[in-house]
Amino acid sequence: MPMNIIYREAETSDAGKFLEYCKRVGGESDNLTFGPEGLPFSISQTADYIRKVSGNPESAMILAFDEGELIGSGAISSVSGRARFSHRKELAITVRKDYWRKGVGTGLMKVLIDFARKNGTEVLELQVRSDNESAIGLYKKFGFEKIGTYKNFFKIDGEYFDADFMNLYL
Ligand SMILES: CC(C)(COP(=O)(O)OP(=O)(O)OC[C@H]1O[C@@H](n2cnc3c(N)ncnc32)[C@H](O)[C@@H]1OP(=O)(O)O)[C@@H](O)C(=O)NCCC(=O)NCCS
Repeated sequence: MPMNIIYREAETSDAGKFLEYCKRVGGESDNLTFGPEGLPFSISQTADYIRKVSGNPESAMILAFDEGELIGSGAISSVSGRARFSHRKELAITVRKDYWRKGVGTGLMKVLIDFARKNGTEVLELQVRSDNESAIGLYKKFGFEKIGTYKNFFKIDGEYFDADFMNLYL
């Protein structure tokens, strides 16, 4: 059956659903900055964060839904709020495991890159575990290039993993 995925900006009322989603995707791979515990924020803190992001033309939080179910997320955020970094933005993306390899990551990337182009971003940057071939494949498909390797970027249950730093010059 063809999927009808809706991509839209996060709303404050998505906060609870988003926190549950993070626990789920955090437990489905060791590729994220968090595990099955999810993010260390309450629903109201997350709603405040969503309000802040949606009120800032420099940042975006995009959610992907299939029949009302949250199945993917992506974000564009400022590097540190410093004026001298304002041409750069960070990109992050996750997709629920039962939706991998169905084009949802591609759909999110298109929306996020389009948003970044429109707000005048010059460099999109991200960090990805060096052994995360799926994500690296997705980023290369959109023109991201590897600019270096950070040795021991992640420490997961006592084990170290390198990260590739990748940039897209818009
Ligand atoms: C990485 C991730 C976001 C990809 O999302 P997705 O919805 O599966 O991606 P798509 O179906 O749109 O695939 C896009 C491209 O990614 C690459 N890709 C995706 N899965 C792949 C796999 N298993 N092996 C190799 N390449 C893969 C391919 O280049 C693919 O393009 P193609 O289908 O034209 O060959 C998803 O696997 C995920 O959420 N993984 C866990 C969390 C994560 O790693 N996030 C990134 C952290 S930096």
